[in-house]
Amino acid sequence: MNKLWLNGQVVPADQAKISVFDRGFLFGDGIYEVVPLYAGKPFLFDDHMARLERSLQAISIPMPMPRSQWLEVIDALSDNLTDGNGVLYIQVTRGEEFPRSHLPGTDLTPTVMATLTPFSPPSGEPIPARVSLMEDNRWLRCDIKSISLLGGIMGKLAAHQDGTAEPLLHRAGRVTEGATCNYFIVQNNTLITAPADTLILAGITRDWVIKLARDHGIPVEERAFSVAELYAADECFLTSSTREIMPVSMVSEQTIGDGQIGPVTQQLIQLFRSSRPQANHVKVVHENQI
Ligand code: PDD
Repeated sequence: MNKLWLNGQVVPADQAKISVFDRGFLFGDGIYEVVPLYAGKPFLFDDHMARLERSLQAISIPMPMPRSQWLEVIDALSDNLTDGNGVLYIQVTRGEEFPRSHLPGTDLTPTVMATLTPFSPPSGEPIPARVSLMEDNRWLRCDIKSISLLGGIMGKLAAHQDGTAEPLLHRAGRVTEGATCNYFIVQNNTLITAPADTLILAGITRDWVIKLARDHGIPVEERAFSVAELYAADECFLTSSTREIMPVSMVSEQTIGDGQIGPVTQQLIQLFRSSRPQANHVKVVHENQI
């Protein structure tokens, strides 16, 4: 990554600096957002912006700039990509404040940072993942996309030690989500996913998958489901902006369905891949056509 965007300016990545008194550094007092780009186009941009605005509003940080200006940021950083596929990472903290105080002042200027890094969209035959069941010990406002991610990081570390791709979190037997993704199960051709309440982050990919499913006649239930239902499910997959739809074949030691990628998961992967922005094909003009 050559350059990034910091407080209104494009700066070389190795020269970007923020204060040690930034509340993001001291308290994790900030919000982030992750937007995938395909062929130079941000995917579901308005939905990502709406979630950023909701999260900022929930913790009383003003939206630092209008939505359209984020498109200018993408333009300004687009040299960081080779084929237009990338991940825009946005981080907004409450800003710098000294002396350190839990109660923030009201006159702070948010610190705003964005990076654009290359990304290879999933392609080819998906590889089913194994994930690790564990207790969800995060806070109770997971609907806010907070940069304070200790609970998720602890889960990621434990899954890594277990040799799996991701935690699958539950609260007293009720499945919530992953550290960085949402989960779906399929039962008798019906898609089931946890409701978008305060116990999960309502993924933009989650919402898109729900829409694709409904548009193609697959019934969807947004409701609480248990670990027992998960273990008895025909299929399971996870969703996130960078992994899109990833089939899950095993949860801890339990095989889900027959351990293969099920038909509903296959269909949704196809639908998802054809719904994402496609590269502009270069038109080849032959001499005799001119
Ligand atoms: N993570 N749940 C959590 C806790 C997440 O952190 C994420 C995304 C999701 C899926 O959201 P979306 O479909 O909008 O990507 C669900 C991002 C990718 C991250 O932390 O990098």
